[in-house]
Amino acid sequence: MNKKPNHELSEMACPHQLADVDLFALGAQEHWYEAYDILHNEAPVHRIPGEGFMPGTDAFILTRYEDISRVVKDEQRYPPALSLMIRQLSESPEAAVNMNTMIQSMVSLRPNPELWRTHRQELTDPWVGPGASRHKSMIVDVAHSLIDQWVDEEKVDFVSQFAQPLPQMVMAKVLGWPIEDLKLLKYFGDGTVKAFVYGSGHRCILPTEEVRSQLEVLQEFQAYTNALITARRSAPEEDMITFLTTVEYSPLNRKLTDAEINGIVYAMVIGGLETTQYALAEQVQLVIENHAVWQALKEDKRKVRAFTEEGMRLRAPTQGLSTRTTSQEEVFQGVAVPKGSFLHMRWAAANIDPLEWDDPTELKLDRKAGTRHLTFSQGARVCPGASLSRLEQVEAWNALIDRIDHFEYAQDNTFTHQPGIMLGITKLNLAFKKQ
Ligand code: HEM
Repeated sequence: MNKKPNHELSEMACPHQLADVDLFALGAQEHWYEAYDILHNEAPVHRIPGEGFMPGTDAFILTRYEDISRVVKDEQRYPPALSLMIRQLSESPEAAVNMNTMIQSMVSLRPNPELWRTHRQELTDPWVGPGASRHKSMIVDVAHSLIDQWVDEEKVDFVSQFAQPLPQMVMAKVLGWPIEDLKLLKYFGDGTVKAFVYGSGHRCILPTEEVRSQLEVLQEFQAYTNALITARRSAPEEDMITFLTTVEYSPLNRKLTDAEINGIVYAMVIGGLETTQYALAEQVQLVIENHAVWQALKEDKRKVRAFTEEGMRLRAPTQGLSTRTTSQEEVFQGVAVPKGSFLHMRWAAANIDPLEWDDPTELKLDRKAGTRHLTFSQGARVCPGASLSRLEQVEAWNALIDRIDHFEYAQDNTFTHQPGIMLGITKLNLAFKKQ
C-alpha cells in the first residue's frame, strides 16, 4: 500500500527549495522531514522576521544538534521565555491571577532555577521521574488489558485503541484520577494542549474566541481537580495527588495549597498524555516498515529500549518549541542572532542532523549513545516525565511483542497528521496475526 497519501492530501505542496519551507503552515506536518533536509543544507539557522521575543526582534529556527544542545544547557545566556514571564509575575502577583493554574503554581513554587530543580526532586521525580519504576507492573497490566480488547479481531485502530488510551490510563492511575472519568481526563487534556494543536505560527497563538472556549474547559478542569484534592485530603490513597496533599516542600517549609497541587496536576496532564501517544503511534509504523527490526525485537526483547529511543529520535512527538530567548548577541553557524530574539528549537531536525549522527535517518538498534537525542530536551529543563514515558513505551512494546506475530497496514489509512507542532497521526488501521 502507498504509505504517502499524506503528501498528496496536504494543504501545502512538498518544499523543494528554501523559499518553499514553512514549518508552521497548514499541512506542513506532512512534509516536515523534507523541510529539515533543506534547512540543514541551506539555512540551519532560519530567520522568521518580526517574530522575536522583544519588540523589533526576530525568531530563529535552530536545526543543528550542537546549537540546540548548547542553548538548552545554558539558562543564563538563553533564558526560557516562561522564566522571564514568571519573574515578571512574581513582581506583580495580581497579574498571576489571570494565568492558568500551572503558571500560578510556578510563581509560588519554582520562581527561579534553583527551586525549579528542588520542585522536580521533591514533587515530581518520585512519581514520573526516576521514581516512575514503581508503576511498572501497573503499566504492564494496562498494556495487556488494552490488547485483550482487540487481539482476537486481528485488526485495530492502533491510535484510538492502544496508543491513546495507554498513557491516559497510566496517567489516571499515577495521579489517582477515577478511571470512570477517563473521558473527562482526555477532554481536559485536549483543553490544556489546544494551543499546540490549533495555535498558529511558532508561538502557537490561538485566536481570541478559541482562548475563551479554552478558558471555560480549564475552569471545569480546575473545579474537578479541586474536588479530587478535597476527597484525597479526607480519604488518602496511594497516588500522586494524595502525596501532594501531604508532602512538606522544603524550600517553603510548608505543605502545598490546593491551588499549587492543581497546578502540578495541570502540568502532568499537559505533558503526560498525547506525547507518549504519538511516540507509540510512530513506532508501530517504524516496525511495519522495518521488518528486520521487528524480527530482532521478537528474538531479543532486551533491544526494546534501543528501539524506543531510536523511534523517539527519528520521529520526535514534540517536533519543536519556541521556549528560549537570547540575553545577549549570539552567533550560530555564522548567523548573528541579536539580543531579545526568540529561539525555536527544532528537536526533530537536530535528531537527524548529519553532523551529529551517522546514517541519521536509519533505525539502528546498536547506535552508540542513542539516548542523547533531543526529544525530551536536555539540561536542567529536560522533560520531568521522561522516565515515565520511557517506561510506558518499553512495557507497551514488551506486551505487543508477546501478543502479536506481526503488524501490517490495513485499508483506509491516509497517514495524515493533526495540525500544530506535534507529530500526531490521527488514525492507523492495522491488521495482524496474533501470537
Ligand atoms: C514522549 C513523551 C514526551 C515528550 C516527547 C516530551 C517532551 C518534552 C519537551 C521537549 C519538554 C520541554 C523541555 C524544555 O523546554 O527544554 C517537556 C517539558 C515538560 N514535560 Fe514532557 N515529554 C514527554 C512526556 C511527558 C510526560 C509523560 C510528562 C508527565 C508525566 C511530561 C511532563 C512535562 C512537563 C510538566 C514539562 C514542562 C517542564 C516542567 O514543568 O518541568 N512530559 N517535555
